[in-house]
Amino acid sequence: MSIHSIRTKGETMDRVEDRLKDHEYDGIKEYDNPTPGWWNLLFIASFVFSVLYFVHYQLGHGTSVVDEYSADLEEATAVAAARALASASKEVTEETLATLAAAPDQVEKGKAKFLVVCAACHGQRGEGLVGPNLTDGHWVHGDGSLMSIRKVVREGVIAKGMAAWESQMPPEELLQVVAYVGTLRGTNVPGKPPEGEKAGPQGSSQDGNLR
Ligand code: HEC
Repeated sequence: MSIHSIRTKGETMDRVEDRLKDHEYDGIKEYDNPTPGWWNLLFIASFVFSVLYFVHYQLGHGTSVVDEYSADLEEATAVAAARALASASKEVTEETLATLAAAPDQVEKGKAKFLVVCAACHGQRGEGLVGPNLTDGHWVHGDGSLMSIRKVVREGVIAKGMAAWESQMPPEELLQVVAYVGTLRGTNVPGKPPEGEKAGPQGSSQDGNLR
């Protein structure tokens, strides 16, 4: 069925003539065919929707795409941290510890533990008291990598009064404390003057940070 026959179905030729617009270009005439009502309605509805959407999500309290993304990211970091902790019973690597150090809830737990057992000698913010400043990028033991921090914390420095913490706390907590100490690196809190070798803020195990 051609378009023409649809239009003319049930209409007399007169009415068809009525609907023809009165202009003519190069012998071409045009019907007056307004966009259908439902189409206009759809257009207006989508416009109104977009205004409401903008007001709700951009200006109001709606969860924006950005909010949703950061919530997802946070969840993914937490999941990665939980996995890292689970795998830590088999093998702990620099990466395991870095994953924990990137997870705010793990770091928070580590910090709580640090304040209770470590701050007495290393200061509330790791700035050092009896024990060395942990924020200045200088290390007496190891290169400042998370693995070397873990080693000192596990084994202690008995001769200098730092206990071997491995036997003093659950393995999970020890990893969290190490992760927290990892986040202190390079924060350079004024306190005890630097001792030991200078490494990069992330430890000399990370290329480019060696100075
Ligand atoms: C009784 C005091 C004391 C406590 C408590 C203590 N430390 Fe220490 N820590 C020291 C001393 C002293 C040294 C330095 C040893 C040296 O100079 O060889 C040290 C060294 C370290 C180092 C190596 C620093 C470097 O420059 O190489 C790290 C890391 C560390 N402690 C972390 C911790 C953590 C984490 C805790 C809590 C679980 C803790 N310490 C609790 C006294 C303490």
